[in-house]
Amino acid sequence: MTFKRIALCLFISQIIVSDSKTCCNHRNVRKFPDGFLFGSASASYQVEGGWNEDGKSENIWDHDTHQIPNLIADESTGDVADDSYHLYKRDVEMVRELGLDYYRFSLSWTRLLPTSFPDQINQAGVDYYNNLINELLKYNIKPMVTLFHWDLPQKLQEMGGWTNPHAVDWYGDYARIAFELFGDRVKHWITMNEPTQICYFGYGLDLLAPRLNIPGLGEYHCSKYLLLAHARAYHIYNEEFRASQEGTIFITLSAGWHLPESEKDTDATRIMQMFDLGIYAHPIFSKSGDWPLQLKEIIARKSAEQGFKRSRLPDFTPEEVEYLRGTSDLFGLNHYSTYYVSANETMVKNYEVPSRADDAGVHTYDLDAWKLSEFSSTKAYPLGFYQLLTHIREEYDNPSVFVTENGYGSYDLSLEDDDRVAYYRGYISAMLDAIDDSSDIIGYTAWCLMDNFEWSSGYTVRFGLYHVDHEDPQRPRTPRKSAFVFKEIVRSRALDLSYEPDMTVMAIDEGH
Ligand code: BGC
Repeated sequence: MTFKRIALCLFISQIIVSDSKTCCNHRNVRKFPDGFLFGSASASYQVEGGWNEDGKSENIWDHDTHQIPNLIADESTGDVADDSYHLYKRDVEMVRELGLDYYRFSLSWTRLLPTSFPDQINQAGVDYYNNLINELLKYNIKPMVTLFHWDLPQKLQEMGGWTNPHAVDWYGDYARIAFELFGDRVKHWITMNEPTQICYFGYGLDLLAPRLNIPGLGEYHCSKYLLLAHARAYHIYNEEFRASQEGTIFITLSAGWHLPESEKDTDATRIMQMFDLGIYAHPIFSKSGDWPLQLKEIIARKSAEQGFKRSRLPDFTPEEVEYLRGTSDLFGLNHYSTYYVSANETMVKNYEVPSRADDAGVHTYDLDAWKLSEFSSTKAYPLGFYQLLTHIREEYDNPSVFVTENGYGSYDLSLEDDDRVAYYRGYISAMLDAIDDSSDIIGYTAWCLMDNFEWSSGYTVRFGLYHVDHEDPQRPRTPRKSAFVFKEIVRSRALDLSYEPDMTVMAIDEGH
């Protein structure tokens, strides 16, 4: 072990131990509850490639990466990505090597429905997903399918995307086709991946496609119709498929955790958490349904002061509130990191008006001290994960939580990824603390199976348990140390902080 690695291990144990009063039980070996599920994940645009092959049409990421120079850090695209369109058997082999219970992947809408609508179903796309699903099932691995992980058909975007009320019908029609085609074998459906990133980053800002940058309006209109579209898919499944297919359907929300900079920032922190998570969780998971009341009040008041005739946050009708409430069998959660919040007026004064940032009226930041190495792109604060899981338990009546993403991004390409190992150990340990406290957490998904197209960062930031060489046309995948460590967690159904893997051979264990 090099000096750098030793320093890193000391550093991560300090992060974990310094918070040991409230979090993180540090017994060396900790068991998972019986029946707990482990998996890893990917998303269509990030791994498939084959962007225009066999009848697939253009989605918003194809469009933007082709049309806009300098959009992506390394000027790359997902045209080939990990070439999973051709290499899916190797992907399944890796899932087997890790001994996972399930593999989470997403469907590309334009691969299945090139016109965006069900008037034409692309048989090559159906074949691709059938092959992937059947390959998984052959080895007893459950497919967990995300219907929408950001790659909206470009044509639908040109018709307003998620701000068009008709998107509810478009998405419902697409979801029904997916249930009809694959629901005999897929028993875990995720409707939407991360509404916050879709609506805030894509409609309110220009950080992700479609980069509309219409602050204070775009994100809220997107939120309303995206949520209703989610509910449409849920009701379609419930009414037309659940009885015969007997699956589970849920939404995946992303949430950071927020800490007050000082005691006077407690309210600001609560408000920030509401803008980040509550805006989507409340309508579905709270008893009252609807947007969080305080959020409605803040945006309505600000809108009136700014001269708008009505709130920039569109209302739900009482029928829509009912239509949405309770439409998720599980609480899907993606979590990466924590932020400090302050009600710093000088910073807030400079926010664009109107905007979500101005509506929330808080300043957020994270700490460089949470970097695990000079290469970190994700900052590590495991206690935040524990606190977020506790918040969800207390706020939403202890729902069954499925962690659908958690993982560590780094600019370091190497295979000896001790910082990623430290991140996973810290966060999994924090999750076990929440389980000990009676949080009903039933599965954990490592993001991600292999390096892939990391959105605006292109291939500069890596999250993979497996390294992928994007310079090589064969796209070889090689396990990192984190893959070996995660495999042992899955095999032993326990977290052993002292486990040191032998990285010479990654093989499929018997029974996989
Ligand atoms: C997304 C993934 C992404 C990951 C890391 C999540 O927000 O669902 O697609 O790769 O974060 O940035």
